[in-house]
Amino acid sequence: MVEIAPSILSADFARLGEEIQAAERGGAGLIHVDIMDGHFVPNLTIGPLVVKAARKATGLPLDCHLMITDPDRYIADFAQAGAGLISVHVEAVAHLHRTVTAIRDLGCRPGVVLNPATPLVALEEVLPYVDYVLVMSVNPGFGGQSFIGTCLDKVSRLRGMIESRGLNVQIEIDGGVGLDNVAEVVRAGARWIVAGSAIFGKGDAEAATRAMRQKALEPLAI
Ligand code: DX5
Ligand code: ZN
Repeated sequence: MVEIAPSILSADFARLGEEIQAAERGGAGLIHVDIMDGHFVPNLTIGPLVVKAARKATGLPLDCHLMITDPDRYIADFAQAGAGLISVHVEAVAHLHRTVTAIRDLGCRPGVVLNPATPLVALEEVLPYVDYVLVMSVNPGFGGQSFIGTCLDKVSRLRGMIESRGLNVQIEIDGGVGLDNVAEVVRAGARWIVAGSAIFGKGDAEAATRAMRQKALEPLAI
């Protein structure tokens, strides 16, 4: 099932609730929340307070993407604030199995994230313990960057790895996805599509989400 996950990083924060609700009306399946700490990535964004506020605005699952150096310290705070899904970067965590288990024990769905330069082999052992893998198609830190084309092949190989092991793991893609390349990304095997500037940068998040969902579903139509 394809789901569009609008990233609120590009939303108007003065109207955050309305922006989220517009995306929801447009058919969003998840709301993607980018948590940055100024250490793991060169930008500072959102903490649990904003997650708690977003929680009040929608019934959709909040997909919290932790781009922080020590996620173990904060996962309980994000779970308590209302996160439904929490993903951590493999580059940031020493004991990935422990972290992923802790996320599940807090009642959230765990995911792991790979930077563009991190090979798939880094998640081979933890794959059976996660609900999703987030493949970064830009270097994390900012919205509005260009899609790194080689990530398509990475998604295909990941899909092969998941299928050959008979696992039920979703592939999420994040960064530089728009109407021009979303079909290609779905064809490669991604099913959860994060989009920030393509959804919130155009003035009408409802229409942009709807258009993105339609384009994403095209390759799967029989
Ligand atoms: C980047 C973030 C993304 C970002 C995507 O570090 O993880 O979720 O919001 O923005 P666009 O879709 O504009 O590339
Ligand atoms: Zn993200």
